Amino acid sequence: MTNLIAPSILAADFGSFAAEVRRADEAGGDWIHCDVMDGHFVPNITFGPDTIRGIRSATKKPLDVHLMIERPERYVERFIEAGADHVIVHVEHEAKHDVAWTLQLIRGHSRKAGLAFNPATPVERVLPFLGEVDEMLVMTVNPGFGGQAFIPEVLPKIRELRKRAPQLPIIVDGGINPTTGRQCAEAGANVFVAGNSLFRHKAAGLKAAIEELRKHVTH
Ligand code: DX5
Ligand code: ZN
Repeated sequence: MTNLIAPSILAADFGSFAAEVRRADEAGGDWIHCDVMDGHFVPNITFGPDTIRGIRSATKKPLDVHLMIERPERYVERFIEAGADHVIVHVEHEAKHDVAWTLQLIRGHSRKAGLAFNPATPVERVLPFLGEVDEMLVMTVNPGFGGQAFIPEVLPKIRELRKRAPQLPIIVDGGINPTTGRQCAEAGANVFVAGNSLFRHKAAGLKAAIEELRKHVTH
């Protein structure tokens, strides 16, 4: 299965978003990961569909839009209309939606439907949806902020998912760097979201950082 690197623009310079997105694109990012936070599902606020539209105009790479929001079904169509290729929603009760219905809504618009779950959420919560998703996102930190330390206790959940779904893209998100990325790859993950470990490198450094991460997760 192809390994993909998805730079998370949460760690980019918000004062020059379009330039940062182009930088991630030109440096070799495979997808551009966009974290949407509403101040309810997580204790932080980022941006909404209009910003996704701006990001869309700066790159042709697939945009994966990670919705850390309550009632995501209310906004799915606006994010798709703004240019999202992948829409990822959370399984937790706190997201306050009918998960199967929202996944169907996303797929009904011919977009990839992803399901995310937090470090404290057992893998059993997402297993019933395996047949209804195009990808799974395993949170490897508690959602809300970039720059947190990877939580190794999530590794068995990745192994279990990979065992149950040999062909399904498994995304890992949070605290991913060459060391933790390799651990996740060995457990079965194949899409690596990384914010701080990539963006803290300046200009030419971003390309080198993506290549370094790619090298470590390829086995
Ligand atoms: C955390 C977000 C992540 C975040 C990862 O809530 O979902 O996508 O950008 O950032 P790093 O790689 O810095 O942990
Ligand atoms: Zn994310």
